[in-house]
Amino acid sequence: MLIRLQKALADAGVASRRAGEKLIISGRVRVNGLVVTCLGGKVDPRTDTIEVDGKAIEKAERKRYIMLNKPAGYVTTVSDPQGRKTVLDLLAGVEERVYPVGRLDYDTEGLLLLTNDGPLTFALTHPSRGVEKRYLALVEGIPGDEALARLKAGVILADGPTAPARVRLLRAKEGQALLEIAIHEGRTRQVRRMCEAIGHPVLHLSRTHFGGLSLGKLPAGRSRELSEKEVGLLRKNTGLNTGREST
Ligand code: URA
Repeated sequence: MLIRLQKALADAGVASRRAGEKLIISGRVRVNGLVVTCLGGKVDPRTDTIEVDGKAIEKAERKRYIMLNKPAGYVTTVSDPQGRKTVLDLLAGVEERVYPVGRLDYDTEGLLLLTNDGPLTFALTHPSRGVEKRYLALVEGIPGDEALARLKAGVILADGPTAPARVRLLRAKEGQALLEIAIHEGRTRQVRRMCEAIGHPVLHLSRTHFGGLSLGKLPAGRSRELSEKEVGLLRKNTGLNTGREST
């Protein structure tokens, strides 16, 4: 992505944008060997060689935005003291160091994002942004209207009451029910604990949506790169500026 030279200097921690402008005007900055003294120029910080006073600044790492359909039996951490498989074992050919955006339990399946974009990860996981996560929960027993109303209104958990949730009963048969549950919080084992609290323990849990993105038909264990449109949607849904504004 092309960005203004002074922003590339600021992003690399060389100087504030204003100080970077001064460096440029005073002829101390070279791009691909040529001195640049005008302020309108744009660069690609991943590929262009930018030097200040003859010293090259480190090239920016390519930003990666990956959606994984996490299967059960993987931990959502980069390493596991018990030696269990981690979600990173499922990513082939990703050279950049990416991190999971939030967590899914060992037994939970579904949509997990991984990225090396720190500010976006922060925005997607910070409680104040209230990003929506949608789950399919197969539960034991068939919750009646009263139990569903409790789930929707918020239940009391050991770490405090949950915020209102969107809940739909999708299917009920043979003593089990399939619920769609949308929440805006991200507490540990929250959906499992919510269902437990109304007396209907979870038998199977998967996440279908996160921050406005949908898992779609991505097979279990497979990953794909997000489109620019999807990254834009995540930014919009977290109140971050779009890539274009940040140049
Ligand atoms: N809620 C849970 O209980 N588990 C998850 O993995 C995610 C949400």
